[in-house]
Amino acid sequence: MLPPLGVYLALGSLVQSCLGSCAPNTTPCSALTVTPPKGATLINATATERYNVTYEGPTYNGVAGSVDICDVEVYLTHGDAGDAVRFAIYLPLKGWNGRWQGTGGGGFAAGSFDFELVPAAVSGYSAGATDAGVNLAGDTDVWYNSTQLVENFVHLSFHEMTVLGKDLSEKFYGRKPDYSYWFGCSTGGRQGMSEAQRYPEDYDGIAALAPAINWDKITIADYWPLTAQGQGGEPVPLCKLSAIGNASISACDLLDGAADGLISNPLKCKFDAKSVVGMKVQCDENDTTIITESDAAVWNKIRNGFKDERGNFLWYGLEPGTNLQNQAIQPGFLISIQWIRDFLLREPSLDVSDIKQDQLVDLFHQSVSGFGDLWGTSNPDLSAYHARGGKMLTWHGWSDDLISPLGTLDYWKRVVELAGGEEKTDEFYRIFMAPGLGHCGGGPGPQIPTDNLAPLVEWVEKGKAPETILFSGNGQTRNICKFPKELEYRGSGNVSDAANWKCI
Ligand SMILES: *[C@@H]1O[C@H](CO)[C@@H](O)[C@H](O)[C@H]1NC(C)=O
Ligand SMILES: *[C@@H]1O[C@H](CO)[C@@H](O)[C@H](O)[C@H]1NC(C)=O
Ligand SMILES: *[C@@H]1O[C@H](CO)[C@@H](O)[C@H](O)[C@H]1NC(C)=O
Ligand SMILES: *[C@@H]1O[C@H](CO)[C@@H](O)[C@H](O)[C@H]1NC(C)=O
Ligand SMILES: *[C@@H]1O[C@H](CO)[C@@H](O)[C@H](O)[C@H]1NC(C)=O
Ligand SMILES: *[C@@H]1O[C@H](CO)[C@@H](O)[C@H](O)[C@H]1NC(C)=O
Repeated sequence: MLPPLGVYLALGSLVQSCLGSCAPNTTPCSALTVTPPKGATLINATATERYNVTYEGPTYNGVAGSVDICDVEVYLTHGDAGDAVRFAIYLPLKGWNGRWQGTGGGGFAAGSFDFELVPAAVSGYSAGATDAGVNLAGDTDVWYNSTQLVENFVHLSFHEMTVLGKDLSEKFYGRKPDYSYWFGCSTGGRQGMSEAQRYPEDYDGIAALAPAINWDKITIADYWPLTAQGQGGEPVPLCKLSAIGNASISACDLLDGAADGLISNPLKCKFDAKSVVGMKVQCDENDTTIITESDAAVWNKIRNGFKDERGNFLWYGLEPGTNLQNQAIQPGFLISIQWIRDFLLREPSLDVSDIKQDQLVDLFHQSVSGFGDLWGTSNPDLSAYHARGGKMLTWHGWSDDLISPLGTLDYWKRVVELAGGEEKTDEFYRIFMAPGLGHCGGGPGPQIPTDNLAPLVEWVEKGKAPETILFSGNGQTRNICKFPKELEYRGSGNVSDAANWKCI
């Protein structure tokens, strides 16, 4: 019974999608052909109508639901590199909103596929994802030594996906997309930055969220909590690190005028863990322990960031109000381990569980000099993106424990300097720093919008640039201010309610 039903539905939706407003040059799904981008060769491609495609779970680039799509699956290769790069392009059969959306990945996965493709398509976008030809499980030992796969992962594949997706949208709907948007967080945020820096024509609007830029530096700095833990003899129990973290919130909570358990601007928080030496901590029901000098020193080292043995700054640490515990335990942060083992030391079988400060400093310099230009994606020159009318926005959680929010500030400052000031930069790049927000979500603060593209679409299509973005969750709402503005409590009214806060 299945084949006739499939044929019936295919014909039905084809007829339906052409009723009334069928543009002159549309191509039915099954007849779509793929034109490989310059420099790439087609391995194979299929285009199939699929119905009621759903993704269960939270969304952050559109609305949940189900959608009928033309699913174009493409594999490309490059010269004789032997790579096979997968692309998935979803074209909604009905209700296309005239927009193309490129979606990104996380960690060492270049794409998140249905997690972001389905909400995008449900919201009316034609959308794409790619695996860059590297496995989605994030195993880097199988591709670190391929120059082509590295190029694919760092910048090429999602550019090619954009070329493919726009072309297929035009063939399918009979006109070019009116607007194009990038959406991604973490690695997806770095990918968005790469598009603005390297392929400024690709996108009208880019949401580069909690971006994993400065990759060469953050991958080493993320190992530092483990090294710092090992310096004081016995590792500090995580419960003590948590207790000191809570003390930092208590010390700085009122700086914004409200006792809400959140630090609106951690840059103003001068908490030093030494101030709580001697504090009693209930680590389990039968045991009270005391914060020692050494516990405080370890917390401070992690919080203050990665330095060499002489105390010279190498990279930023984490802000008060951030959970420092995650990376302070064996075996350490997986991405750092893979980066050091596979890309820097090129020995996937090596045990890198006990790297000392001097070795880590050497690895940092090796990473920056050998990988910074390609992987760092921190070129502040966005003049070409600005000139083509592009708009980019970034939000970043002040309580991000994987990518220091100060790295995003560092980048923004360099952009501002080059662009000639904040006002100029506001024309094309704006950042929003969210109190109590973890990495791409989570943390005790108000949470990210369910449709993160909405403010960007307003900006690109209506010229309405965002001054604030509404975050809500954990029983609180806040209109997060465009940096460098910060939140301040108005002095009366429910502290959980965004209306009782202003940006100063
Ligand atoms: C297309 O090529 C890829 C990579 O070689 C392969 O994994 C996939 O099965 C092929 N798909 C089809 C439909 O032939
Ligand atoms: C899609 O879902 C709708 C509503 O749940 C249902 O009526 C329809 O039969 C489904 N179509 C297919 C092809 O499964
Ligand atoms: C790259 O690494 C893989 C897996 O470790 C190995 O099989 C292959 O021989 C290496 N190739 C080169 C060129 O080093
Ligand atoms: C710190 O605060 C969090 C959130 O209120 C709580 O879950 C945690 O138990 C606290 N840590 C300690 C050691 O009390
Ligand atoms: C605390 O002590 C009680 C009574 O001796 C015991 O049953 C319980 O398991 C202990 N809890 C922990 C976390 O050790
Ligand atoms: C304050 O607002 C929060 C969130 O809307 C609500 O849960 C809480 O009950 C309010 N508190 C008071 C005292 O009204």
